[in-house]
Amino acid sequence: MPEGERGSLTARGLRKAFGDLLVLGGVDLAARPGEVLSVLGPSGCGKSTLLRLLAGFERPTSGEVLQDGEPVRGPSPLRGMVAQAGGLFPWLTLRDNLAVGPRAQGRSRAETTELVDGLLARTGLEEFAQSLPRSLSGGMRQRGSIAQVLACRPPVLLLDEPFAALDAQTRLRMHEWLGSLLRASPTTTVLVTHDVEEALLLGDRLALLSARPSTVVEELAVPFGPDRGRAVLSDPAFVALKSEVLDRVLRA
Ligand SMILES: Nc1ncnc2c1ncn2[C@@H]1O[C@H](COP(=O)(O)OP(=O)(O)O)[C@@H](O)[C@H]1O
Ligand SMILES: [Mg+2]
Repeated sequence: MPEGERGSLTARGLRKAFGDLLVLGGVDLAARPGEVLSVLGPSGCGKSTLLRLLAGFERPTSGEVLQDGEPVRGPSPLRGMVAQAGGLFPWLTLRDNLAVGPRAQGRSRAETTELVDGLLARTGLEEFAQSLPRSLSGGMRQRGSIAQVLACRPPVLLLDEPFAALDAQTRLRMHEWLGSLLRASPTTTVLVTHDVEEALLLGDRLALLSARPSTVVEELAVPFGPDRGRAVLSDPAFVALKSEVLDRVLRA
């Protein structure tokens, strides 16, 4: 398959029950190669569950996940996931955290150093390379967690509300940073969030989940350019769309 066409991820009729609790009631969605698909839904609707199924960490009750047409049957380096709390190892420096994946993939020391240096630069964390995660701010830790996963160069990146724990200003800076990073990369991203602004700032498209048992009730293209910075927040079209989408989330 040509490089440019790799990285599609499709969920077909995904259902997931925990005992009597039906969380996902038949989710259908498809992330196209290279796009950022925001999956928006109310708290408790099953977003984290959906992401774990997409990652292959859990098996659906029925339905299937396909990556580039191949069934997902378990975790794979083809899919990198950043959990809500991030994933840095507390006992490793940031640099060593970023090097874990590439080293495990068999990259040479020189190759790994080059990759990690590039990521430290793109995350603006060069001067913290030798720091332990506990001495980093929340925003830096989340940037580091995303960089750690990107270091494995997965064609598909799965993000679970990565900035939910941050204050509003830091979150906005993170959105600008991540938006430009993702739009400049060939990685396909599925971002789940309850935050309408986050979904619209980062997504090329938006899939809206209903409350439990959740299904995709609507999909829409996000009609704003790739260089969406904080200025878009005061664009009347953005304000109107945000309020319309919020209404739908509250009704879903
Ligand atoms: N492993 C599990 N066992 C039992 N119930 C679970 C499990 N994981 C999630 N749930 C339940 O599934 C529902 C959806 O959870 P979750 O996917 O975390 O929602 P969200 O991420 O949208 O807030 C919740 O009611 C939660 O308690
Ligand atoms: Mg969650």
